[in-house]
Amino acid sequence: MFTPNFRPVSYSQTTLTELMIPSYANFGGKIHGGILLSLMDKVAYACAAKHAGNYCVTVSVDGVNFLQPVEVGELVSLKASVNYVGNTSLMVGIKVEAENVKTGIIKHTNTSYFTMVAKDEEEQPTQVPALILESREDARRFLEAIKRKEFSRRYQMEFFNTKNILSVEEEMYLLQDERCKLAF
Ligand SMILES: CC(C)(COP(=O)(O)OP(=O)(O)OC[C@H]1O[C@@H](n2cnc3c(N)ncnc32)[C@H](O)[C@@H]1OP(=O)(O)O)[C@@H](O)C(=O)NCCC(=O)NCCS
Repeated sequence: MFTPNFRPVSYSQTTLTELMIPSYANFGGKIHGGILLSLMDKVAYACAAKHAGNYCVTVSVDGVNFLQPVEVGELVSLKASVNYVGNTSLMVGIKVEAENVKTGIIKHTNTSYFTMVAKDEEEQPTQVPALILESREDARRFLEAIKRKEFSRRYQMEFFNTKNILSVEEEMYLLQDERCKLAF
């Protein structure tokens, strides 16, 4: 199948809208975080696969913070857009909004970033089309994604190093101010 070398951001922009039904709720009556994560993964896949013209897999998820609860009966819209492409990977930005259908009030619940990798028929990573940035906003998102990747790489390296040299004996004093009790 023919896949072009470039595709515009708008080509793959995708919105998924779903009504929050009672079976999605947790014991507190709010929508399970896992339901929202599953919907985010779905829309990220649709957006990435459309841009790539290939099957895609989720590699990592950044910035999932549920800032406000979502209620049963609200209409959730997930807006996905390819923010960045590497060679075989893409970063999809997803904005999640929940609308109270009675009042029309819309709340922004979170914005998260899914990194996906395109795969070919042999399940190997395969190149994705480059991205045509159609607006200053597209360019801003692409640049932000470069910074996000760089921060994430640095954080992972630093945390890995910190974890490797962590000495339980030397750092035990940090537990003094924490809400825990040693039982060994
Ligand atoms: C993602 C996967 C293909 C990467 O395989 P790999 O052998 O490391 O392949 P590569 O080293 O060629 O990396 C492929 C791309 O993934 C990116 N990548 C790999 N690990 C990454 C990570 N932890 N975070 C972000 N990007 C990552 C690489 O930067 C590369 O991007 P680029 O081609 O745009 O430069 C492989 O780990 C995989 O299939 N994972 C399972 C994914 C899956 O099944 N997800 C569903 C959830 S269960």
